[in-house]
Amino acid sequence: MHKRTLIHRATLVNEGRSFKGSVLIEDDHIEEIMEGEEVYPGLPSDTIVEAAGCYLLPGVIDEHVHFREPGFTHKADWTSESRAAAAGGVTTVMDMPNTLPHTTTAAALEEKCAVATAKSLVNFGFFIGATADNAEELRHADRRKVCGIKLFMGASTGNMLVDDEAALEHIFEEARLPIMVHCEDPHRIAANMAAVQATEGPDPDVRFHSQIRSAEACYASTERAVELARRFGTRLHVAHVSTARELELFTPGDALVTAEACLPHLLFCDEDYARLGARIKCNPAVKTAADRAALRQALTDGRILTVATDHAPHALSDKTGGAARAASGMPMVQFSLPAMLELVDEGILPLPRLVELMCHAPARLFRMENRGFLREGYKADLVLVRPHRPWTLTPNRIESRCNWSPLEGHTFQWRVEKTFCNGFLVYNHGHVTDEDFRGEAVTFDR
Ligand code: DOR
Ligand code: ZN
Repeated sequence: MHKRTLIHRATLVNEGRSFKGSVLIEDDHIEEIMEGEEVYPGLPSDTIVEAAGCYLLPGVIDEHVHFREPGFTHKADWTSESRAAAAGGVTTVMDMPNTLPHTTTAAALEEKCAVATAKSLVNFGFFIGATADNAEELRHADRRKVCGIKLFMGASTGNMLVDDEAALEHIFEEARLPIMVHCEDPHRIAANMAAVQATEGPDPDVRFHSQIRSAEACYASTERAVELARRFGTRLHVAHVSTARELELFTPGDALVTAEACLPHLLFCDEDYARLGARIKCNPAVKTAADRAALRQALTDGRILTVATDHAPHALSDKTGGAARAASGMPMVQFSLPAMLELVDEGILPLPRLVELMCHAPARLFRMENRGFLREGYKADLVLVRPHRPWTLTPNRIESRCNWSPLEGHTFQWRVEKTFCNGFLVYNHGHVTDEDFRGEAVTFDR
């Protein structure tokens, strides 16, 4: 017996268009997309979701999360964070390698995949981390299963920095997968830290973080990464671009070198340290209001290809101290879609562009199979959102284990009503499913 669900009379947003229509889900896939406002009483379905007034989007693909397991389950684990994803309309996450052990070998990838397979409510894929000496592992990584190579050309949580020029050249020359790079020049950061510590003491106030992890450190490192990519013809995606100046290094339509913007840098700026302190400490640091404005503008001019969260939960106890001591990173996966929808309301980007940045572009960039679009035959990864339904973020709504958010107290205008992952209703009006449904490993057409 097939299981059918009809999502009736929503506004579908897909591939540059918004239009009224209905979607029939059969088992795990989209069986039929029907344009128009007609009623379809005769369609055989077990469930009808009346969706007038709602927008139906492809489930968000968050290409940049840190779900912490294995190794740091006091901060987060695959159960808690995948529940947060489901509640936020995110149906696929791509997890970063700074877990313990570091995901830098086939064995570590398998271990992480086993954990996610057992626990995750949403679909998942993993980056393999580059080190100065794991060339063999990178070469033999399964291109159908591994998202890409994560390269830290800047030190951050987990100490995975690769800085040696010969090692970097080797990684770029040999890469058989897209490289996602974290760019922040460690030498400039060390010099800035020493200079600030000379006047402020060993743990300067967190508002010095953006001066220490400076715009210059970002630009120098990103320029170096882009140069390596062009020299070796390597597909490069620069993670979490945080400054106006780095945007000069990207060209709309470039098939080789592209850029990601992340929620922290789109939502916050250095003026927010006074209010939010170490909660918004992240690497790269949030920069000036002018940098944030430039990033927002680049969402629509082609220089930013994708939007992700850099979801990096830490226990609040890890977030104490200043620029030297407080952990870097903030949870974001549960609220990225409502937050971006507010930027739509503010006129910063049109809704179809949001879908391009958060759903289509990550799928296309990594060549993910059968996801990221509203298309017949594709997996039924869907999110239904409703505008003009104000709600305030309070800790009781937070699914992430860390149980805090830099957005606490904010009143959002959009609600995630339902999230379908592979056709299964994983989130419904405030409730994450208790059933033992699990997401699946995504695959790539390579
Ligand atoms: O702020 C950050 N947190 N930046 C990173 O690069 C890593 C992340 C984490 O894993 O905590
Ligand atoms: Zn990250």
